[in-house]
Amino acid sequence: MYSQRSLISNLLLLIALGEQVRAVKYDYLLEYEEIFVDCREPPENSLNIHGLFDISNVSLNFNGDFVHVTGNFTSIWDVEPTDRIALSVQTFQYKRGNWEPTFFSYNIGDFCSRMYGPDEHWYDFWTKHIINDVKSKCINTPGTLLILEEYDVNVSFDIRVAGPSLAGLYAIVAKFEAIDKYNRKRPTTICFEVRGEVVKKSK
Ligand SMILES: *[C@@H]1O[C@H](CO)[C@@H](O)[C@H](O)[C@H]1NC(C)=O
Ligand SMILES: *[C@@H]1O[C@H](CO)[C@@H](O)[C@H](O)[C@H]1NC(C)=O
Ligand SMILES: *[C@@H]1O[C@H](CO)[C@@H](O)[C@H](O)[C@H]1NC(C)=O
Repeated sequence: MYSQRSLISNLLLLIALGEQVRAVKYDYLLEYEEIFVDCREPPENSLNIHGLFDISNVSLNFNGDFVHVTGNFTSIWDVEPTDRIALSVQTFQYKRGNWEPTFFSYNIGDFCSRMYGPDEHWYDFWTKHIINDVKSKCINTPGTLLILEEYDVNVSFDIRVAGPSLAGLYAIVAKFEAIDKYNRKRPTTICFEVRGEVVKKSK
């Protein structure tokens, strides 16, 4: 059954809108070495994931269909707790030697009001597992320690798809901007990509 809500499965659901429906089992393989890579086309003054969080206390272990996650991380982005955080997400698929945009993209004007929202794409594999009470601190309060429970992310999912195979290499690009109370954008933007390959299970 389709139960694992994840960024990529939502993406695939969207791509999969169509008539002829069949069930295929897919695996999403994250790139092992570095899950969060630098943006291919970073905005000016941008920092990568390491400008947002110190993740040196987080460990990710790949184990078949699962990624086992444990540890904690600290917000380090030099912005103010009163800043509004805007998020933009774009997804690309690698085709014929180029990264081509898919139609899955969105902008969130106030990320902080939604960071812990149970309907968000990232909830099941990230914020649901933050166990200390730091909900009011969002990601705009440098020095905040966010503690994760130990959990597994199931990266295998069934999906009803139509038409061409969804297998392939994908990149999800996330950009965070901070806007101060006078509505001015802070000088630094956070930009990082998560890359992974969707493979069809041979079963
Ligand atoms: C944070 O993570 C480190 C490394 O995994 C661990 O040693 C430490 O106990 C953790 N701290 C808390 C408060 O969970
Ligand atoms: C790592 O974990 C230790 C122990 O809980 C904590 O004191 C430290 O602040 C953490 N460092 C980061 C960068 O999260
Ligand atoms: C992972 O999710 C898939 C799809 O929902 C499911 O078929 C599979 O049984 C799950 N794996 C485990 C070990 O729970």
